[in-house]
Amino acid sequence: MQEKFKLSKSLDDAVELVTLPKLTDPRGNLTFVEGKRHIPFDIERVYYLYDVPSGEARGGHAHHKLQQLIIAVAGSFDVLLDNGYEKRTITCNRPFQGILMKSLVWRELNNFSSGSVCLVLASMSYQESDYIRDYNEFVSVATNEGKR
Ligand code: TYD
Repeated sequence: MQEKFKLSKSLDDAVELVTLPKLTDPRGNLTFVEGKRHIPFDIERVYYLYDVPSGEARGGHAHHKLQQLIIAVAGSFDVLLDNGYEKRTITCNRPFQGILMKSLVWRELNNFSSGSVCLVLASMSYQESDYIRDYNEFVSVATNEGKR
């Protein structure tokens, strides 16, 4: 059983930009990710978002325990990150870079370019009980747990 996250007022403690290996090759480039090597967790689940219509948004939730690496393997999209104290938007547009979410963080994905694909590597299987889908509840959890 994983411990609950230790919370911090700084988004820098919850989120990290990870640069993955990139093997440049005239035949086409190759990037790879190994669990526990490039990211701090074993990869339990992979999912991807694609065919996102222009103007649509995904996410809009946080997780109690789940850690994830989000990669724009094609095209681009914006990720709004929020730890209850601080908000930041990062544009994902490089297949060899990912946003690692290590701790309780609200995320919203939008501005998907046509043909973009958002690949997500996750530390846990899908569990609805791990989601926080109400923003006010998230702020309460994120700001109160840090004081415990
Ligand atoms: P959700 O995580 O809310 O999507 P997003 O954050 O990308 O907007 O999931 C949408 C639906 O898909 C929800 O009914 C749960 C289901 N789902 C799974 O069954 N397995 C999964 O691994 C994921 C990510 C979602």
